[in-house]
Amino acid sequence: MILPSPDYRGKVRDIYYIDADRMLLVASDRISAFDVIFAERIAGKGEALTAISCAWFKALRQSPLPESLDFQDHLITDRLEDFPEPFCQEEALRGQSVLVQRCQRIDFECIVRGYLAGSAYKEYRRSGKFLDHSLPAGLGAGDRLPVPIFTPTTKADNGHDLPIERRAMQKELGPLAERLETISLAIFDFAAGKLARQGLLLLDTKFEFGLLGEKIVLIDEILTPDSSRLREADDSSTNPLSSKLDKQFLRHYLEGLNWNKEPPPPPLPPEIVEETRQLYQHARKRIIAALS
Ligand SMILES: Nc1ncnc2c1ncn2[C@@H]1O[C@H](COP(=O)(O)OP(=O)(O)OP(=O)(O)O)[C@@H](O)[C@H]1O
Ligand SMILES: [Mg+2]
Repeated sequence: MILPSPDYRGKVRDIYYIDADRMLLVASDRISAFDVIFAERIAGKGEALTAISCAWFKALRQSPLPESLDFQDHLITDRLEDFPEPFCQEEALRGQSVLVQRCQRIDFECIVRGYLAGSAYKEYRRSGKFLDHSLPAGLGAGDRLPVPIFTPTTKADNGHDLPIERRAMQKELGPLAERLETISLAIFDFAAGKLARQGLLLLDTKFEFGLLGEKIVLIDEILTPDSSRLREADDSSTNPLSSKLDKQFLRHYLEGLNWNKEPPPPPLPPEIVEETRQLYQHARKRIIAALS
C-alpha cells in the first residue's frame, strides 16, 4: 500500500492522527542539528530511536519509581500487528513506529542536566551560574554538577527553543511545573543509574510531557541519542569527537564549517554520514544492553 501523507511532519517524526485519542509516530531516518534538517538520510536511525525509546518506556514501567509521582507514558504499542488499518499492513513501518496516546502537549521542554555541557557551560563561563541555579565556582566543561538540575526551555513552533527560569514556567503552569520537575529528575536518576551499570554517563536529557485530562503523560521519545548527551564513563576526554554516543561530533563537525546554522544545510560528506549511522547503531546496542 502507499501510505497517505502524514498529518504532521516534525523534524524527525511523521505523525498520523488516528482518532481523537491516538496517533502514530513514525521515526524517519532524517537528521537535524541546530534545528535544521539535513538532506542526507541516516539508515537505521528511525529504528534505533524507536527501539531505544520503547526499551526505556518498558523499563520505566517496571521501575521502582514511587507511585506518588503519578504519571504514565504515552506508549500503546510498538507491534505493527496491533496498529489500526491501514497501517498494520505497511511492513515499512515495522520497528520504526509506535501507536501512542494523543495528548495535549505541554509546551515546555523538560531538560535535566547532571553535567555542565553545551549552552549551560557557555552561560556558566560568562556568569558563574545557569538560569536560576547558582553553581560552585571552578567547574570545567563536562564536569559533574553537585546534583542534577532542571533547566526547562520553551517549545517554539518555529525557531529555537529558549532556556527559561523555573519561575517563568511556574508562572505559566502553576503547581504542574513543580510536578514536571520532580518527575523529570526522578526519571533522570533512574536512567543514569541504569546506564552507569553499563559504564555510560547520562550528561543531560530532554523530556516532553502532555496531559490526558488531569493525568500527566510522558510523551515523544525518551533517553535517545537525539534527546540526550551520553558519554563513556571511562572517557576522560572533553573532546566532543571522542564521544560517539550522541550527535556532539556532528555538531562539532558543523561548527568547523563556515555555516550560519540557517537553512539551507550544507551537504554532509559520505564519511560523516557513515560515522553517524554507526553512532546510532552503537548507541542502540549500548543502551539496550544497559536495560536488559
Ligand atoms: N503523545 C503525544 N501527544 C501529542 N504530541 C506528541 C506526543 N508525542 C510526541 N508528540 C509531539 O510530536 C512531535 C514529534 O515529532 P518530532 O520529534 O519530529 O518533532 P521535532 O521537530 O523534534 O519537534 P517539534 O515539531 O515539536 O518542533 C513533537 O512535536 C512532539 O512534541
Ligand atoms: Mg523531537
